[in-house]
Amino acid sequence: MRQHFAVFGQPIAHSLSPYIHAEFGKQCGVELDYVAIEASPEDFASAVATFRAAGGRGANITLPHKQAAYALCKEVSEYAFHVGAVNTLMWQDDGWMGCNTDGVGLIVDLTERERLDLRGRRCLMLGAGGAARGVVPAMLEAGVAELIIVNRTAARADELVDAVGEPDRVKSRYWEDLAALGDFELIINATAAGHQTTVMDLPFSLLSPRCLAVDLSYGKAAIPFLSWAKAGNCDHAVDGLGMLVEQAAESFLRWHGVRPQTDGVYATLRAKQDALISAD
Ligand code: ATR
Repeated sequence: MRQHFAVFGQPIAHSLSPYIHAEFGKQCGVELDYVAIEASPEDFASAVATFRAAGGRGANITLPHKQAAYALCKEVSEYAFHVGAVNTLMWQDDGWMGCNTDGVGLIVDLTERERLDLRGRRCLMLGAGGAARGVVPAMLEAGVAELIIVNRTAARADELVDAVGEPDRVKSRYWEDLAALGDFELIINATAAGHQTTVMDLPFSLLSPRCLAVDLSYGKAAIPFLSWAKAGNCDHAVDGLGMLVEQAAESFLRWHGVRPQTDGVYATLRAKQDALISAD
């Protein structure tokens, strides 16, 4: 029997998730439909209720609804509880079970696709919003040695550091002090700056020769940060496309009990994205 899934967000029109899940479904022999549903923050809860009433079995949740989705759940995974945000809903008997696959998606992409070892790295996280929150516990679990969080609004970085509760390993610093922080072996851009016309002013002194630079965005939004890293002779610069595909595979696993192969879908999306960028 065909099962109904959706991704909720705003904006959502250009979401790649319907394509990714349709491909996973074909590969694994799961009959499903998966649609993108645009909902404003005011309409989000009722849109999810309408989807459920029409037989919805599960959903992905993207910006700006990940915290609102958490509030809709009758039960959440330990990881979702820790980050206070849900990107995957599963209908169970009489309510939504929520989990968050963003962190595991990032780590699988970096360690398995990119074959990088995160253990022992000195790390810098730029940003302290929802995207940063979703991945910080997974980075710590992956064994990073130290994590400095810097955010334009310093209080949000402090809040995130407090929420993590590992003061020896995770600290906040001021944006104005970036040039004085020394160099890093992993820098993650979790800000929304790439979606705007403003360019972040980042010193090259943050980059070490073996630095890994990761932008959690993909497409054009990732270009300014990754160009900065390459201009500073950074060895390895990665966007968030692989993380997107891996978090989708993790959601698929939770819904259908099987983890799809991701390489084919990733290669197709990578080629499409490269073609779009070079056509500009
Ligand atoms: P998301 O869920 O994508 O993280 P968010 O919670 O709104 O969305 O957070 C956006 C992040 O990008 C925040 O860390 C934000 O900094 P503020 O907390 O100071 O708003 C950061 N951000 C957005 N635009 C930025 C810019 N032009 N320069 C630096 N940081 C920026």
